[in-house]
Amino acid sequence: MKVLVTDPIADAGLERLEAAGHEVETAYEVEGDALLAAVSDANALVVRSGTEVTEAVFDAAPDLVIVGRAGIGVDNIDIDAATDHGVIVANAPQGNVRAAAEHTVAMAFATARSIPQAHARLRDGEWAKGDYLGTEVNAKTLGVVGLGRVGQEVAKKLDSLGMELVAYDPYISEDRAAQLGAELVDLDDCLDRADFLTVHTPLTPETEGLISEEELAQLEGGYVVNCARGGVVDEDALAEAVEDGVLAGAAVDVFADEPISPDNPLLDVEDVVVTPHLGASTEAAQENVATSTADQIVAAFAEEPVVNALNAPSIDESAFPRIEPYIGLAETAGKIATQLLDERIESIEVTYEGDIAEEDVELVTASAQKGVFQPLEWQVNAVNAPQIAEDRGVEVTESKTRQTDDFQSLVRVTVAGDDESVSVEGTLFTGDEPRIVRVDDYRVDAIPHGHMLVARNEDAPGVIGFIGTVLGDHDVNIAGMFNAREAHGREALTVYTLDEQVPDEAKEALESDERIIEARYIELNGAE
Ligand code: NAD
Ligand code: MLT
Repeated sequence: MKVLVTDPIADAGLERLEAAGHEVETAYEVEGDALLAAVSDANALVVRSGTEVTEAVFDAAPDLVIVGRAGIGVDNIDIDAATDHGVIVANAPQGNVRAAAEHTVAMAFATARSIPQAHARLRDGEWAKGDYLGTEVNAKTLGVVGLGRVGQEVAKKLDSLGMELVAYDPYISEDRAAQLGAELVDLDDCLDRADFLTVHTPLTPETEGLISEEELAQLEGGYVVNCARGGVVDEDALAEAVEDGVLAGAAVDVFADEPISPDNPLLDVEDVVVTPHLGASTEAAQENVATSTADQIVAAFAEEPVVNALNAPSIDESAFPRIEPYIGLAETAGKIATQLLDERIESIEVTYEGDIAEEDVELVTASAQKGVFQPLEWQVNAVNAPQIAEDRGVEVTESKTRQTDDFQSLVRVTVAGDDESVSVEGTLFTGDEPRIVRVDDYRVDAIPHGHMLVARNEDAPGVIGFIGTVLGDHDVNIAGMFNAREAHGREALTVYTLDEQVPDEAKEALESDERIIEARYIELNGAE
């Protein structure tokens, strides 16, 4: 598989990809048409914050399986477009948290003690001791906006340096904040009370411009640190507030446009400290995020769980071995059911019985949907199947019961149109062997195989022999066969697993016999 890396990551990540047998191509700082050309035959794309992964990138990359973000923020990746194209987006949310938090603390001190300004003057030969009277953090109030992974780490570090903590984060519990010794307050309160305000939210439509002129005015005399994302704090307003003395100082690591243009107003204000997006730039952090990203790409190629996937059904790695065999089984059941239904699909129901009902089956249900939609030739995989169902108005329900009559675990996929429905049940026999054990009311026992024929026929002597002869005449080898009937002499259902496709002429020959009510060829297309 080919992995295209368009922002530099640590060698450890590249080496891990190569050691797993994948071809790694680096193309740093490509953009526009050059990026589209570079990604056209890639199976994975690795980026940091430098590459804009837009819808056009997904359109240009038909073989793309995963975009790995070697870091946390994914505001440079169009996740909706990724989902529509069935591409996994995974980040590395843990590896650089400590580095980002340490940088935030360093930036708070840098601005409070004017370290870069004093350094620059001393290098210029000036002993400006009398010009700098800094602010201690001890006994001051830290306002944290966004008390997630980085925000919490910053809060812990500055708490230990004697700061009072208040936090604004509408999505975390008061308990969690209390555990950190932080008082959860609304934004107004946070701004009114904070001496230092540090921002740690993602950039979203909700957080863009969250801290603007009005909010900065509320912080009067305080300091602002932004090591999260450019755009959360309005740059023009921040530059003006520091310039006009409304704020004592600011420290900024991230910018709305990166790299920043030389006329960014923040560069002209003496009491603003800037760094070029260095929050995660430590050796340890870069190694962590690069190897974590590589691991996720290797897993995606192996169709194993991608632990930090942001747009794919989540799965606990330790539970994966228990649910893995059901992924293919549910897909197969979905494929069979959809090919037996004569109507437009209105709904899909996936039912779990027995032991499997105890598991997190989100990925199995997504695979059942993939199986249902694939024969309709929609571009589908387990990442985009739930989205496709939603977009097309197909209702999906999942139900679970611990009870089961005959099998330890059972998965049933029922597809329904307006007037009819088809149910296909599968289970696993010893050694995780998939078996289809029921089609509607007929009990069967079929090992799913590349091609199937499901015939509804009269339960009469010679019919099965006739079907076998027609298939043989068309060079179709029968791998297995199972016959189930309603009652002696009534309708029967016969399931054939076949080594070859059933040609149309064979189907016509079968259906021209009045004892055959219907012969349905089913393509399983690689599903197990
Ligand atoms: P996280 O998802 O763990 O935490 C984000 C927090 O923000 C969450 O608790 C969330 O509830 C909160 N939040 C969301 N919307 C909010 C709103 N409107 N108001 C207040 N709070 C809101 O993310 P994280 O891993 O802590 O990362 C935080 C930020 O730091 C991200 O923007 C990330 O990209 C950035 N980051 C920057 C660097 C760097 O190099 N400078 C390094 C790492 C992370
Ligand atoms: C992140 O979101 O992880 C940071 O922006 C770090 C980076 O990749 O530079």
